[in-house]
Amino acid sequence: MSTAKTYIVEHLDPELGPWSELEYIAIANESHQAGAKFCLSSLPAGFKVPETLQSVPAFVAENRGVEEIYAQDKSRVCLLDPSAAKDLSPEDGETFDAFLFGGILGDDPPRDRTSELRKKGFEGRRLGPVQMTTDTAVRVTRIVVEGKIPVDKIQYLDHPDLKFNEHESTQMPFRYVKGDDGKPIMPEGMVELIKKDADKAIDDLF
Ligand SMILES: C[S@@+](CC[C@H](N)C(=O)[O-])C[C@H]1O[C@@H](n2cnc3c(N)ncnc32)[C@H](O)[C@@H]1O
Repeated sequence: MSTAKTYIVEHLDPELGPWSELEYIAIANESHQAGAKFCLSSLPAGFKVPETLQSVPAFVAENRGVEEIYAQDKSRVCLLDPSAAKDLSPEDGETFDAFLFGGILGDDPPRDRTSELRKKGFEGRRLGPVQMTTDTAVRVTRIVVEGKIPVDKIQYLDHPDLKFNEHESTQMPFRYVKGDDGKPIMPEGMVELIKKDADKAIDDLF
């Protein structure tokens, strides 16, 4: 019988920026709704977890790294790794209880920072060939291992254009899950944050 799942994001960036914060709040809320746990591991001592995240019941903040937490049970942890040889399958939900993700923002082109976790020797699985945001990677993992839908049967939107108004739009260099409204599923507040950052980049030019 498969047990409740834990989704672990190992914190790898020096700080928690506003993009990551929104992604992590979305992961925490969706984990809570699914009866799963969301653990943000490897937090530096004295790290201040935002109240918005701390208040979600599924959320656990950990100073220990994933190797230490799972020292006795490494084989139950699956690393979601864009370079893994095998794609994640619904059956992996029986093999693994914990799913590990790199706590890093996406970059274009990808710099393979997931390699920092690969070195730790966890079994790896890929979620298809296109880079996803961290919250999308967790969402897709849940759809596969809990919803039992194969990774290539999920409806995605690749590199979608976000249209802010008649004149302004920006293309996101990632893969997203397609929502019922036909739009990419993104954390609450993310479109506004992307627009704010795009406006700031334009202002900085002058
Ligand atoms: C935004 S991605 C970062 C990818 C980053 N460009 C890198 O250098 O590895 C954050 C995390 O989501 C997961 N992820 C994203 N896309 C994935 C894919 N296609 N297959 C497996 N894992 C993926 C990985 O765990 C990755 O560390």
